[in-house]
Amino acid sequence: MATAHNNANPGDIAKTVLMPGDPLRAKFIAETYLENIVQFNTVRNMFGYTGDYKGKRISVMGSGMGMPSIGIYSYELFHEYGVENIIRIGSAGAYTSDLHIFDLVLANSCWSESTYCMAQAGVEGDIQYPSPELNETIKEAADKLGVKLREERIHSSDVFYHEANVPDHNDFYNEHGCVCVEMESFALFHNAKILGKNAACILTISDSLVTNEHASAQERQTSFAQMMEVALEAAIM
Ligand code: ADE
Repeated sequence: MATAHNNANPGDIAKTVLMPGDPLRAKFIAETYLENIVQFNTVRNMFGYTGDYKGKRISVMGSGMGMPSIGIYSYELFHEYGVENIIRIGSAGAYTSDLHIFDLVLANSCWSESTYCMAQAGVEGDIQYPSPELNETIKEAADKLGVKLREERIHSSDVFYHEANVPDHNDFYNEHGCVCVEMESFALFHNAKILGKNAACILTISDSLVTNEHASAQERQTSFAQMMEVALEAAIM
């Protein structure tokens, strides 16, 4: 049964879904890494595909940017389509000078100022956690591939462009222990928890709020390859 945001039919989507923010990245991953691909979603161009990776069936779908967007898509995947595991693969801005462009971070928790969990289910608190089992699987996959992952607390922010009169990256690091910022995990981890499912988040550092350096579009594409391979390997373990 299709939803307002997804025209997949029951059974079209695998138990494990990789979710980049950008739907064109989902298309790239499907076309580059999967065999026998079938596109299951075109609504709002939030492309989703199912295919085989090393003979095992997995799906990949864009989440869009921000918590309202990933909140909708991940809820429907878990609740309507029987998805068990979502691995977000995204980019993040570094809050500390010891995190460099292209470093990989595995979220062990996320702090947020967002009201998503309160609005969605009356859940208080500003920290959400990924599935420990899924994180273990991702670490095993990274070890197997010889890829270094830093396990850290991340900031899941509602705001990309801030004015100068509000807390900045130093405050988020010093007060909440967040080493980098993205905009989706708090809602994703919450949805997984209330629906009894699993979620995790791997991030590639694409820019630094400390040094202001950032990766070019081309560099982002290449550096994302390592993260995608870790996520793909974890998805079939
Ligand atoms: N994702 C990548 N870089 C980011 C930043 N600087 N802020 C929020 N999300 C991001």
